[in-house]
Amino acid sequence: MTAYEIISKKRDGLSLSAEEIKFFINNYTTGRIADYQMSALLMAIFLNGMDDQESRFLTDAYLHSGQVLDLSEIPGIKVDKHSTGGVGDKVSIILAPIVAAAGIPVPMISGRGLGHSGGTLDKLESITGFRIDYTRKEFIDKLKTVGACLIGQTKEIAPADKKIYALRDVTATVQSIPLIAASIMSKKIAEGIDALVLDVKTGVGAFMSSYEKSLNLARTLIRIGEEAGKKTVAYITDMNSPLGRTVGNWLEIVECIDCLKNKGPNDLMEITHLLSGTMIYLGGKSESIEDGISLSKHLLKDGSAWEQFLRIVDAQDGDVALLKEPEFYAESEFKADFPAPEDGWIKSINAFEVGTAAVLLGAGRQRSEDMIDYKAGVRFYFKPGEKVNKGDLLFTLYTDKKEIIPFALEKISAAITTSPVAVSPPRLIHTYLDKTNI
Ligand code: URA
Repeated sequence: MTAYEIISKKRDGLSLSAEEIKFFINNYTTGRIADYQMSALLMAIFLNGMDDQESRFLTDAYLHSGQVLDLSEIPGIKVDKHSTGGVGDKVSIILAPIVAAAGIPVPMISGRGLGHSGGTLDKLESITGFRIDYTRKEFIDKLKTVGACLIGQTKEIAPADKKIYALRDVTATVQSIPLIAASIMSKKIAEGIDALVLDVKTGVGAFMSSYEKSLNLARTLIRIGEEAGKKTVAYITDMNSPLGRTVGNWLEIVECIDCLKNKGPNDLMEITHLLSGTMIYLGGKSESIEDGISLSKHLLKDGSAWEQFLRIVDAQDGDVALLKEPEFYAESEFKADFPAPEDGWIKSINAFEVGTAAVLLGAGRQRSEDMIDYKAGVRFYFKPGEKVNKGDLLFTLYTDKKEIIPFALEKISAAITTSPVAVSPPRLIHTYLDKTNI
């Protein structure tokens, strides 16, 4: 068996066997297959897809490229949440402390920015000192003592995803159900959880823009999770406009601080409480999802979630003093405001266009070796459904790249559509799915 034969087979639309997939993934992870060959296989998978069986084989190959954690020494039901990727999606950073404050262990292996979408790891790393690269033992120890630990894929845990994720980001091969499923589910199964809540995004800013494709992705993820013995549920939620008011790593951390102090925007908090409430229910700390949502709101209001967040950041070597006084963070060299050209109601803010502009401002990578500018991004002052008057500030962008400002202002302002008559805020939560209704 050779890499060339396997690439040709997938290029010609044929199904790959478990052995072929394992051979390719293992040899790529250990450096015996080159980036250019992996890129060719990724594109062949992207174009020709994979059947359910191949998807399972691929997840398995990713999973067994590293170790599977055994968390049985930690009491309680371990629960995690994963989003399929969006713009301004900072929910994991708000939700992990809430759920941990409810007494549920949250082992979380997240990802970096991918394509136009931001990544939890990059956001966390914008906190000075914050580390996401602990060993297996350190991860388990922190989970035991703090109640939550948020890390990335490592040499020990899901190393195949670590390497392939970075390659997909720069080879236009992200939007593929089998590739997304293997990437997400290998990390989630490896982290030793008992239950998983998935936030499958749909809309222009999601990797699956059509509702049908999002539904298929949710079904694939649930099937893989349940077959691995994890209770897996999914929500399909809207990703047409960015979530919350900020896009960009440190800007989003500051927004998370507001949320954890119970001052978050409605859309972001609605999704956060739904997902954390569901985790609390699956973790056995409430009688229903509704009761879980009430507990989630209570833990935010009484300050427990904020205290828990500070404990997590401290345990992961992050600068806690900075979180208490975020105004001391370095500012971007340039700021540019955009005022509303006329009166009206915000109808939508195209999340894909905003995500792409944020990458150009420095908040994401265009090549895998690019450094991120944590300060860069966009802050919006209005959300869909809200009224603006001519001259009101619509958004501010932050960057160190002066030359990109005119283009970014144009791109982001063109992403905002307004209506002369009042419009309602969009529906955020579309569908709930579990193994009984897929
Ligand atoms: N999140 C992941 O971890 N992987 C993907 O491929 C997409 C979203």
